[in-house]
This record gives sequence, structure tokens and C-alpha cells, in this order.
Amino acid sequence: MNDVVLTGDRPTGPLHLGHYFGSLANRVRLQDLHPMYVLIADYQVITDRDLPGEIRRYTTELLLDYLAVGLDPAKVTIFQHSAIPELNQLLLPFLSLVSVAELRRNPTVKDEIAHSSQSAVNGLMFTYPVHQAADILFCKGTLVPVGKDQLPHLEVARLVARRFNERYGEVFPLPEAMMGAQPLLRGLDGGKMSKSRGNAIALSATEDETAALIRKARTDAERLITFDEERRPEVANLLTLAGLCLGRGPAELAGEIGDGGAVTLKRVVTEAVNEFLRPIRKRRAELAGGDVRRILAEGNERARERAVRTLEEVQAAMGF
Ligand code: TRP
Repeated sequence: MNDVVLTGDRPTGPLHLGHYFGSLANRVRLQDLHPMYVLIADYQVITDRDLPGEIRRYTTELLLDYLAVGLDPAKVTIFQHSAIPELNQLLLPFLSLVSVAELRRNPTVKDEIAHSSQSAVNGLMFTYPVHQAADILFCKGTLVPVGKDQLPHLEVARLVARRFNERYGEVFPLPEAMMGAQPLLRGLDGGKMSKSRGNAIALSATEDETAALIRKARTDAERLITFDEERRPEVANLLTLAGLCLGRGPAELAGEIGDGGAVTLKRVVTEAVNEFLRPIRKRRAELAGGDVRRILAEGNERARERAVRTLEEVQAAMGF
């Protein structure tokens, strides 16, 4: 079968190294293998917050991050929800295929509700996984590179595709999740790496900001640096990060640093990260001076043509 890849991100802040090693590097590889769509999921931003915030700026920043790491608009269609009315319209028939009980059971939605800063949970919080099914199915996506937290949403997309096909005839292929093989990077404080927790190194951070973040990273009191994920997770995480940037094994790096202690470890990590990100940051700065919104407009146009065709097919299958 000819796979179509679709994945995306909410435009809520800059992408960081966790995104890079967890998914962006894989996308850059995939763009040479399959037709690929990358979604800037702007409507999804207002699921767990009341206002979209600086959505336009975040959209541009996300686009710059994508292009800087090497996503090539000649190969990948980069687009946004808000520019594709026909994608959004798929939500209506799709919602009719899913029960309220199924919407309520989604563990990722439950988790987001638990961590939400909103005064009240809104309806989009329960229904956005069905909208996400539309994200995947509008282009008949078959391969969806995602993290573990997105698996329940992928199940919703499969359920929607299966039920649509059963009720109205074969229209959609069943999408599959594609899980990354990379080790999970933690944040510099040892917790989950997250743009909102201040423990992540943004791709767009300056070298000085990067150095300052790593200087504050949590380590431990043992002088001899060893790679021990169980007993010394923070040190192991820094070694993993440097190893990924240098293309080397973390245990080998630990051996070289030896009794250089946390100071040497942090110097090695800082140099590795800054060196690794230098060409990406340089490209990002160059792109920022140009007309990147045009690239998005072209992606939106391509995605929209695809969505128009799928919506027509859906309406015809349903007998409208
Ligand atoms: N929910 C995803 C996230 O929070 C973003 C997203 C939106 C997505 N639509 C998608 C991911 C479709 C994969 C496929 O990161």
C-alpha cells in the first residue's frame, strides 16, 4: 500500500530538543519516503485554554522550526486547521459515529482535564479527538507518527474510519500509529520535558540561553560521572542528550568525563547542544527574514484541495 503520513503540533510555543529527537528528526526522514502532511493544529489550542493567545506568532514560529530542521515544503504539505473549512466540516458526520460514553473514556482527554488551567471544561475538550480523526482522514492518512499520549486519539480515528466505512461504504483506510524508537528525553529538572515548565531547550534559544538552562540543570552530589538511568536519572538524561547531539553513546561519554564532575558534564552538554543546533538556528534566522507565510499559504492551498475532494466523497457516500 502507498502510505500517506500525517502528523501535527499545537502552536502553543517553540519546539524543543525533545520534539526534535522524539519526532522532528523522524519526519525529516519520512518526507523522502512518503507523501506527507504536517498540521499546525491551531483550532486544537483552545481545548485546554480559554484564548488562543498569540496564535499568529506561534504559528509562524512553529513553521520556522519545521523549516529550520529540514522539512522541505517541496515534499511536505504544511497547513493549518483554520485555513481548511472542508477539513473542519468532516467533524459533523464524524461526531455522529462516536458515542458520548466513548468520548468520556479517552484517557488522554481525562489527563488534560486534570492538568487544565481552565475554569470549566469546554465541549471541544471532549470532541477534539474526533476533530483529530478528521485531521488524519481528510488526506486518507495511513501512518501517524505520534507519542504514546496520542494513541487513544489514534484509536478514535480508527473507530471513525471503520464505522464510516461500515455505514456508508469503503471510503477511508485505517490509520496506524508510528511510535518513535528514541529514548525519552526528560526536562533539565528531571521531570517531563515541556515548553510550559521552563525545563526544555528550545531549538530557537540563543547559545547563551542554552548555556544558562544547562547550568541550572539538576544533577547529583556524586563527583564521578557514570551512566545509570535507574539510580542517577538526571545525570543519565544529560548524557543521553549530549550523546544524541554528538551521535555517540551516553556510557562512553560518561567514561570520558569520569571524575570531571557535574561542571565538566555540563560543559560537554552545552557544547554538544549548541554545536548541534548551530546550523538549525542559522537557517531559522535566515528564514525568519524572508516570507515564510507564503510557504504556509501554498501548503494550505494544497491541503484544501485534498480536503475538498474527501468531503465530496463523504457527502456522496452519505447520500447528501
Ligand atoms: N494532539 C496533537 C498534540 O497535542 C497534535 C495533533 C493535532 C495531531 N492533530 C493531529 C497529531 C493529528 C497527530 C495527528 O501534539
